[in-house]
Amino acid sequence: MFLITGAGGVIGRQVLSLLLQQGSAVTAVTRGVGAAPLPHGVRALHGDLFRPEWIEAALEGVEAVQISPRATGPGLGALLKLAERQGVRRAVLLSATTVEHPAGEARFAARFRQAEELVTASGLDWTVLRLADFAANALAWAPQIRAGDVVRGAYGGAATSPVHETDVAEVAVRALRGEFGAGAVHTLTGPGSLDQFEKVRLIGAALGRSLSFEELPPQQVRRGMLAQGLPEEVPDRLLGSLADYAVRPGPTTGTVGELLGRPALTFGDWARDNAPAFRG
Ligand SMILES: NC(=O)c1ccc[n+]([C@@H]2O[C@H](COP(=O)([O-])OP(=O)(O)OC[C@H]3O[C@@H](n4cnc5c(N)ncnc54)[C@H](OP(=O)(O)O)[C@@H]3O)[C@@H](O)[C@H]2O)c1
Repeated sequence: MFLITGAGGVIGRQVLSLLLQQGSAVTAVTRGVGAAPLPHGVRALHGDLFRPEWIEAALEGVEAVQISPRATGPGLGALLKLAERQGVRRAVLLSATTVEHPAGEARFAARFRQAEELVTASGLDWTVLRLADFAANALAWAPQIRAGDVVRGAYGGAATSPVHETDVAEVAVRALRGEFGAGAVHTLTGPGSLDQFEKVRLIGAALGRSLSFEELPPQQVRRGMLAQGLPEEVPDRLLGSLADYAVRPGPTTGTVGELLGRPALTFGDWARDNAPAFRG
């Protein structure tokens, strides 16, 4: 039995599907707030992991836990203690490259660093996956692309190596099974650095359209996000890291290829896989 926190998230959903395809028993933890239904065959537990005491009984018989720091929040330390007490063997943490390659406001990287400290100090066999920005973050452009041929945003020159969620999920599942050994930190990125002009162009190529990115002043983008009702934390996190990636691109590693024994998926692959989301 595997227990997946943040099960409604981009990575959580892919990990659930993969484990189910492989015939494994899976428990998915979700607050069940407005998310799409979980795949058939998953045991769903509804609750808030910020206060995780309620989950103790469900940890019995669990082999490994996947931890999304966003979903566990301040409850992570207590969750790890409960897991140890119930005989869970492994924990796989979804962390971020910003822990080792700072970008954006330090408080966001600090949350991942703190989660890493808790997991690596636990008595569980741990794996830390430091993730680059997800290719799936580009879904935020879908409304603009459905409406026209120009994506407007800040810091067009900000460059990262976005990682395909399928690659993250495949590595995470193998780490949950203990295939890579214990006590390792893996930095997972896509295979190449792309700025926002190139990312938009590649989505256009997947759609058979000519799309372009138009740069706006960051303050204008920030006001637009707040006007849409997004909490301040979203523009704080996004614009802060883009500003830094415009000066110094995010990291690129070959770790996905080394761990999976095949090339990492490209952003172009991701755009083709997700083309329907950008069609009107
Ligand atoms: N996006 C990126 O580029 C990136 C890069 C590096 C690392 N990460 C990290 O990787 C992890 C997985 O990311 P993801 O995109 O797959 O998942 P996600 O959508 O960020 O969050 C996973 C789940 O956490 C729960 N959650 C979200 N906000 C919450 C809140 N304020 N309070 C309590 N629970 C909350 C939600 O679950 P329910 O509503 O179902 O309970 C959500 O489905 C996250 O911890 C994220 O910070 C993301």
